[in-house]
Order: sequence, then C-alpha cells, then structure tokens
Amino acid sequence: DSSPVKQDNDKTAKLEAFVADDTNTKLTTNHGVKINDDQNSLKAGDRGATLLEDFILREKITHFDHERIPERVVHARGSGAHGVFKVYEDMSDVTRAAFLCDPGQETPVFVRFSTVAGSRGSTDLARDVRGFAVKFYTQEGNFDLVGNNMPVFFIQDAVKFPDLVHAVKPEPDNEMPQAASAHDTFWDFISFMPESAHMIMWLMSDRAVPRSYRMMEGFGVHTFRFVNASGVASFVKFHWKPLLGIHSVAWDEAQNISGKDPDFHRRDLWDAIEAGAFPEWELGVQIVAEEDEFKFGFDLLDPTKLIPEELVPVQRIGKMTLNRNPDNFFAETEQVAFHVGHVVPGIDFTNDPLLQGRLFSYTDTQLIRLGGPNFHEIPINRPVVPIHNNQRDGYMRQTINRGKTSYGPNGIAANDPQQAKAAEGGFVSYNERIDAKKIRARSRSFFDHFSQARLFFNSQSEAEKNHLIDAFSFELGKVKMVAVRERMLGLLNHVDKGLAAAVAYALGLHVPTIPLAELNGSIPADADPADYTPE
Ligand code: HEM
Repeated sequence: DSSPVKQDNDKTAKLEAFVADDTNTKLTTNHGVKINDDQNSLKAGDRGATLLEDFILREKITHFDHERIPERVVHARGSGAHGVFKVYEDMSDVTRAAFLCDPGQETPVFVRFSTVAGSRGSTDLARDVRGFAVKFYTQEGNFDLVGNNMPVFFIQDAVKFPDLVHAVKPEPDNEMPQAASAHDTFWDFISFMPESAHMIMWLMSDRAVPRSYRMMEGFGVHTFRFVNASGVASFVKFHWKPLLGIHSVAWDEAQNISGKDPDFHRRDLWDAIEAGAFPEWELGVQIVAEEDEFKFGFDLLDPTKLIPEELVPVQRIGKMTLNRNPDNFFAETEQVAFHVGHVVPGIDFTNDPLLQGRLFSYTDTQLIRLGGPNFHEIPINRPVVPIHNNQRDGYMRQTINRGKTSYGPNGIAANDPQQAKAAEGGFVSYNERIDAKKIRARSRSFFDHFSQARLFFNSQSEAEKNHLIDAFSFELGKVKMVAVRERMLGLLNHVDKGLAAAVAYALGLHVPTIPLAELNGSIPADADPADYTPE
C-alpha cells in the first residue's frame, strides 16, 4: 500500500475481527441452520439403527475427526504470548528497519517458547534446548526472530538436520524415550559429530533446565546482517536478556516437577501474565563492521561459535514486554508459523550454511503442517499491513480478489500493485559479492570444534561444573552401548581432560585417547592426519 497514512498497528484489534462471539446465541450447524437437538442422533425407532441422513450427527463427528493437525516436526510443545516491543534509540546508523529506528513506535509481537525434542504432550522440564521465537508485526511486514535459549547449534550445515533430529527423537522401533536426551541413538550420533561439542556443553549445563520461560536468554544464533539506508552493511548477532535474570532448576527438581506438573513452564508463563507480572526482555545486538569479518579466531558464519561478549559487547537496544495470553491455544500458539526467512528491509542473511538451509525448511514444513499455501491468511500469521500481490487460489483461500488480472506487468487493470523502489520500502537483497566454485565441503575455518566448548566449561563455577559432570554421567549412564559411551568420553577429553575423567569415573570406564584425525569430521579432508595426531 503506497498510502503515506500510518497503518493501523494494533494486532490485538485486528485479531478481534476473527474472534467468535457465542454469547446469547442458539446452536447452529456450520451452515447456519439452528439445531434443535445435538444430544440424540436420528434413529429408526426407539432402539433402531442410526440414520445416514442425520447431517447434525455427521457434521459434528466429521469436524471432530479432523480436529488435529500434525504437530511440528521439531519444537512440537510450546506456549505462546502476545506483547509489544519498543526500541530505545534510533538505530538508523546500522539498519533501515523502521521498527528499530523510531523509539516512539510500539511494535506488536507474538512469542512462542518451546522444547525441541518432545511431542506436544511431553513435559516442560525435559533437559533440552528451548525455542524462543518472536514474530514482530512491523509496519514494513513481519520480521521473525526464530531463536533458541542457547547461542550455538549442534551442526554446521543444514543438510545434517534430518540426521540430528532422527537421532534425538524417540527411537523408531518403540518410540522411547520421550523428551529426553538419555538414549543410545542421540549419543551415538553426537559421538560422531565433534562439531556438536560446544552445543553439548550448553545442553548438559543448567541452561537446559530453565526455572521459567521468563528467566531464559534468547539468541538468534546465526550471524545476520544489518543494512542501513545508504546500503552499508554490518554483521549482527541477536540476543534477548531477561530482566528477571537467568535462573535454572537443579536436575532432581526438574525430574520431580516433570512428574507433578508437566505444564510447569506453561502454567508459570500463563499465571504471570494473568497476574499482571509481565515478563520482559531487552533486545541485545553485537555488531561487527564488515571489514572486521576475519578479525576473530573463528568464522562468523559458523553457527557452533558465539562471539564472546568481552570481544564485542552486547548493546541493549530495546525492550519486549509480554502482556496478554492467547485467547485460543490452537488458533494462535499452534497455528502460528515462524520463519527465519521472514525479514524486513534493513535485516538480511549471511552465508551461514545452517541458516541457508533453514531458509528453505520452514515454509516447506508449514505447507504440510498448516495444509497448503494460504497459511499466511490465518489470523495470527497476518501482518498488520495489507498484502497485495498476484498470488491466487489454493486450498483454503480466504481472500476474494477482484478484477480480471492476476499477473504483471499488465495493461488491463488500472491500479494493480506495482513494485516498490528501495526508497518506497521495497526489500532489496544485500549486494554481497560472490565469486566461487561450487563445492561440497566445509571451509577450513569451520574445523576448530573444541576451543569454545572449553571456553564454556572454564566459564562455569565449581557448582555448575559439577552439574555438567552429573548431567553427562546421568545421560551417558542411560546409554546401553559401551562403545558409544567410550566414543563420547574420547570426545569430551578434547574439551577438558578433568571433565572426561570425572564422567569416566562415574561410568566406571577409562577415557580412550582418540586422535583428532580419527574423530569424524574433525580435520579438513585435504589435511595431513599426522598434523592432528597426538605425539
Ligand atoms: C521449528 C529454532 C535449526 C527446521 C523451530 C522453532 C524454533 C526453531 C524456535 C519453533 C518455532 C515455533 O515456535 O513455531 C531453530 C534454531 C536453529 C534451528 C535456533 C539453529 C540455529 C533448524 C534447521 C532446520 C530447522 C537447521 C532445518 C534444516 C525447523 C522446522 C521447524 C522448526 C521444520 C518446525 C516449524 C513448524 O512446523 O512451524 N526451529 N531451528 N531448524 N525448525 Fe528450527
């Protein structure tokens, strides 16, 4: 819409248009016919067979039979909330994203927190990563920051994601265990995946058992790009800092809570918002100038690495407040569709190979999860600004497009939507120079899997280190195959010898020495293994 008039920004009011009001009404069928009796099916006589013509019975049961949609293939269990975001200061020196340039602008958001591995009905307190997905309904369209509560990820390339998820999900023959990392397939995979060493340290730490969703950090994980109005780009990492601080529970508390109240986190979030204790996070950014791309001892495109805050401080640039519970879990929390590819002008991607794969995966999965190409018309997914394009039809289309044309350019329609220049708010992809050969390999800059894992371990207090040792001992203690336990010990030995020895002691095993050259994917394919073999 080229109108200069500020669009109506109130997502809650826009959702209101779809809210059903059943007060003081009569029951009807889905076609509006008033129902006289929906408690007795139509029968031939008192005790007689039920009649096929009973459209009231058929419709009620048919709709019920189709109530469920597939749960998300990952992050199936979640809790959502509405809120608002406001930037503290104009960020236009680094980004042209309008919602980050106007401190007077309040942007509505919808947030979904989740666990990753468990099914929709699994416990909130599993030792797991937590999803932290935020949809900003900005005046320039939706921006989704689809992050986690840990700053790094298990794998460096999206092509491994199906393997990772098959390994972490319950075993395929008996669908056990539910929502826990304590099983052979998970650790078998990890033991062959040294690039996951850093993430595994976070996963075995107290971060994996948050006390509350309100007390978790969030991270965009990948390095993204900010681009300002002059086209100057910088790298950016996104953070969410909870104003209540970061708090966890101990593992025995987590297990107790799981038994007594599997909805613990969901209930905590809901009750806090109902009570007016609105959870708040500050949005943080770490900004790196383009020319500093190679200044670090790791690759900014590698999602198993973070930028230490000592090297690049986190600037807190705005605040998000969650202030309203959803009206309907299914319509909002279940049907919301986040996508890391939903960006607005001023925010762009990098070539992180995990990010690049995600850019394909989310819409693809939502096409089946939400039943076809029109899920952007579901109320929770609609932007607060209008949609104008030539896309048409498909299952469950809601919009009635008028006119004879649905193509462009055309000379028939008088006022059909036109392309927007950058100055008019059109999204222009960042002009990154690429001159390369196609290869299936990973960059040499992606091969240091242990420095940051070690950095993480060393950053922990004694108590936290003990929790890590206990977590590894507990989880690996559930692994039946000794070979898997031993491979894991060999891998941990590259992180920290004391850690490996303590876990080995708990498991009654010795720590094997596995040269880097024998750890799958730990040295470049064209490297000399002798250079990576201990003396
Ligand atoms: C769902 C985060 C990597 C595929 C999610 C959700 C989050 C998330 C928070 C839940 C969204 C919601 O609440 O609806 C992340 C992060 C990643 C990552 C932070 C790494 C940095 C990947 C990769 C892939 C992937 C590499 C695939 C190549 C999916 C899929 C869903 C999902 C298919 C389900 C989406 C849906 O059904 O709506 N992810 N993810 N993710 N993720 Fe990821």
